[in-house]
Amino acid sequence: MEERMVPLVAYFSIGGAVRRTAEMISAVMGADIIALDPESEWIEDPSIKYDTIVVGFPMVMFKEPEVVDRFLGACALIGKTICPFYVSGSIGNEGHVMPGIRRSARGAAIMPVKGFVNDTPLEDVEAWTKAIEAFRAQEFS
Ligand SMILES: Cc1cc2nc3c(=O)[nH]c(=O)nc-3n(C[C@H](O)[C@H](O)[C@H](O)COP(=O)(O)O)c2cc1C
Repeated sequence: MEERMVPLVAYFSIGGAVRRTAEMISAVMGADIIALDPESEWIEDPSIKYDTIVVGFPMVMFKEPEVVDRFLGACALIGKTICPFYVSGSIGNEGHVMPGIRRSARGAAIMPVKGFVNDTPLEDVEAWTKAIEAFRAQEFS
């Protein structure tokens, strides 16, 4: 079987909730991890080394923060898989997230956005990483 590339977990976190969940996801998946810095420009395309990018962010005014759109827009994503997740106090109000992600991540296969509540239990992370694996298997078969 062809060896899979290591995934990347790229996250933006203000208060630490998204960072904690991103770290759990990265540990479970054996993925590389980077924090997105709203002040930085992406001069090198961060997607070159990765076929799958997990992108995490806090829900802010029912949308993804702008830094997420800028990050995705800076990546060449044709043939890549994007797995978006957010963390917030309550889940299920993500109606405005997917259109923005789809606009920014043109050419990518995009999983439906996953919502985690604060203090994400490990079981939830493990269940979602299994869903990612199933999605990747489908994309790369
Ligand atoms: C300015 C601001 C706007 C927010 N807007 C929403 C929102 O629209 N919907 C929601 O569910 N949570 C909202 N939240 C809550 C955050 O999404 C939630 O606290 C998240 O877990 C923060 O992640 P972090 O600790 O990694 O920054 C908002 C928080 C802030 C600071």
